[in-house]
Amino acid sequence: MIRTPDAGWLDPLVGCLQRAQEGLLGLLAWAGLAGTSHGQAAWPWALRLSGEHLLIDAGQARRLALTLLVLALAALALGLAALWRKPRWFLVAAVPLLLVAAPWPQASVLFVPAVPTSFHRSPTGFDAVSIARGGELYAQHCVACHGVDGRGQGPLAAAQPVWPPDLAGPLLWRRADGELLWRLLHGMQDRHGAATMPAFAQLGDADAWALIDFMKAQAAGQSLRATGAWAGPVGLPDVEVRCEARPPRRLASWRGQRLRIVAAGTPQAALREDPRVVTVLLRRGDEAASGAGGECVAESSAAWHAFSLIAGTTALAGTQWLVDRDGWLRALGAPGQAAWSEDDLLCRTEAGSRSAPAAPPGDGLGALIARMDAEPVRFLKGGFVH
Ligand code: HEC
Repeated sequence: MIRTPDAGWLDPLVGCLQRAQEGLLGLLAWAGLAGTSHGQAAWPWALRLSGEHLLIDAGQARRLALTLLVLALAALALGLAALWRKPRWFLVAAVPLLLVAAPWPQASVLFVPAVPTSFHRSPTGFDAVSIARGGELYAQHCVACHGVDGRGQGPLAAAQPVWPPDLAGPLLWRRADGELLWRLLHGMQDRHGAATMPAFAQLGDADAWALIDFMKAQAAGQSLRATGAWAGPVGLPDVEVRCEARPPRRLASWRGQRLRIVAAGTPQAALREDPRVVTVLLRRGDEAASGAGGECVAESSAAWHAFSLIAGTTALAGTQWLVDRDGWLRALGAPGQAAWSEDDLLCRTEAGSRSAPAAPPGDGLGALIARMDAEPVRFLKGGFVH
């Protein structure tokens, strides 16, 4: 995955900016000062701070970090001046000096246009049913321009004022989900205001979120086929699971534990329970129940389809996945593969497994688990991830 030497301090800075803006919006909504747009609190300004620009322009990011430090110093000086029993005018005088001396970053890098939904979060939980619904809508409304595989080679693509982008690349990981939602529902324009991507206002919010889920799943599979890895981390599709006679629960309810998802069709031996992971057997739902496999079973054609899409394959039977404690898909085992190895990781750091404690030789699963635990996914939209 992409990494720069600066990522160590840059990621937290960008993360802070993001959380500060979300916090501000939450506060406005709590105070009743923010309207709503598409079901969630609306960002009231036409601009927002741009983490994605700062990640590209490390020089400006450094200026911003220094400016924030100087502002903190200025606030401290003001605070001290106010608290001192006798007035300390030199402290007050230092404030404008500090403000002038601060290396302010360029406003054009720091701010980007925002839309009311810029900070919206998807309400779907990456549900398999939502991914399937998105797939139907995509085939109906989007294929003509964006192509069956999302690479922008649909029959109408050449007739568009600009070529549709490659949705199978890193684009969807870079964009804020809420801004994708806005563009789907309200369309896109070029710099002269002429329409480029049509608006799909007739789709409701739920359908637009479903389309985003589908596009992400499809992009994951396409990039796996093309490069053998993902442009960004992919979450675990959610589905209902039955564990023997217990009441059904959602796959997402195991957050905090490691999971192994096994697509039915695997020989019994490979399905041996392992105490380090919760094993869930995925069944397509249309074949006769065989009673074989793990004690927890997800039987859903939508989930089967979602996992096939993410794996970029139509032959899913026998595929295994490892899911980390935070609900990210981390490793893919091909059908028939005898044992796990670190090559199965889908999202790797260039730093390698230096930080992970060594597992005993021959214990591929142990090595993968150690690495997943030692290197949790730190995902920022547009940010650096491993
Ligand atoms: C008539 C052709 C056409 C159709 C139909 C169409 N698009 Fe697009 N789409 C485009 C073009 C052209 C662009 C690039 C616009 C630009 O960059 O200004 C685009 C851009 C996008 C983007 C990138 C947005 C971004 O942030 O850069 C997404 C996502 C997208 N389309 C999704 C969809 C979905 C989902 C559908 C179906 C509901 C759809 N499109 C239907 C032509 C189309």
